[in-house]
Amino acid sequence: MVRLNAVATDLPGTVLAKVEYFNPGHSTKDRMALQMVEDAERAGLLKPGSTIIECTSGNTGMGLALAACVKGYRLICTMSDKQSKEKMDVLRALGAEIHVCPTNVAPDHPDSYYSVARRLNAEIPNSFFPNQYDNLSNRAAHYATTGPEIWEQTEGKITHFVVGVGTGGTISGVAKYLKEMNPNVQIWGIDTYGSVFKKYHETGVFDENEIYGYVTEGIGEDILPKNVDFSLIDRFEKVTDKAGALVARELARKEGLLLGYSCGSAFQGLRQLKHLLNEDSVVVVLFHDHGSRYVGKIYNDDWMRERGFLNDVVRTAGDAVAAHAAQPAIQILAEEPLSNAVGVLKKFGISQAPVRDAVGRVGSIDESALLGALAEGKTLDTLVRDIMLPPLPEVDEFTSLAEVVRLTHSGHSAVLVTLANGSEHVLSRHALLLSAAQGL
Ligand SMILES: Cc1ncc(COP(=O)(O)O)c(C=O)c1O
Repeated sequence: MVRLNAVATDLPGTVLAKVEYFNPGHSTKDRMALQMVEDAERAGLLKPGSTIIECTSGNTGMGLALAACVKGYRLICTMSDKQSKEKMDVLRALGAEIHVCPTNVAPDHPDSYYSVARRLNAEIPNSFFPNQYDNLSNRAAHYATTGPEIWEQTEGKITHFVVGVGTGGTISGVAKYLKEMNPNVQIWGIDTYGSVFKKYHETGVFDENEIYGYVTEGIGEDILPKNVDFSLIDRFEKVTDKAGALVARELARKEGLLLGYSCGSAFQGLRQLKHLLNEDSVVVVLFHDHGSRYVGKIYNDDWMRERGFLNDVVRTAGDAVAAHAAQPAIQILAEEPLSNAVGVLKKFGISQAPVRDAVGRVGSIDESALLGALAEGKTLDTLVRDIMLPPLPEVDEFTSLAEVVRLTHSGHSAVLVTLANGSEHVLSRHALLLSAAQGL
């Protein structure tokens, strides 16, 4: 159990984290994986030489892989293609065979990771399909271990338990134990947009319209697993993909906890419900797994930017010209003929340029000014000075992108950015648009 400090300053009461990456497979799912295997052994469903087949978002597969290595079973995991490559590589390293299945198909579609696991189970002799969704050994593991640990580690003072919900094993097992010890402990489940849990809990309606693709891993479902005991859950809260990812990064930076994606969602869900806490609250939020499985995803700026998850980061004119910082603005001379100006634009592949004379910057020129002059019957011998536009607005590298957008919107096709080292760069409307599209 770890006390949360810097991220929790605006939450009343005490906020503790049950950090589950200390398990040998770096997630809480080690607990239920071992329980499912050993319960199956006791029931005679798993025998020497058996093959375990499971559909997993990765962490259950990891727990099963560790058990399978030690106990000598073959393991096949079916995984949806949205799961991180790191999770698949690690499972392969532990000897598991992976079948990658499409994410965006209905659970009963023959290619879904549930259906493929069922089919392989039917085809492969002496195979066992634990089915973590409906196998109640899953929640029994958390009733037997995670719940009592949380109770003891808070000396029975816990008032709220907050956790992401996938199969429902963690929340239901822990909730059953805690509510037996103190029926007043509040149990909050964290759900995703695109999942059916929250609405089902509140209305009893399984609404297929709620189901759509999302990128958060491990929480939310398009089915109702038997392991979710809705009667023990006091409230569900939905968290967006973006908020979950950003908060996981915040937990790493501020608390030194490198956590998985759903941990960010769990903490964000708690934040969204903070108005329900008070100074006497003792909150435990369970963090499912370690961040090493997400280095190519939420801890990768390009991945974040591609999804627009970093677009609230403040960006400046300096950022927008950073890509061509080594190529200063091309200047055109006021006394040059238009033929030279056209040649310069063509040579450097640019659409506008500042114009200067012996004294300094006196104007600017762009494609439409040149075309306008030619349309009016001016010849290519005309001097740039005779047709040039007013100088480009000038900004420094710290000017916000919003201000640059405003300047280019009011008639100017570009601005001139001066960097701290004195070099000058043209930031065109076109480049500005590309920067914005990259999530700036
Ligand atoms: C990363 C992660 N978060 C949350 C969960 C949800 O836990 P549970 O299935 O016990 O509801 C899982 C389960 O696979 C998970 O892997």
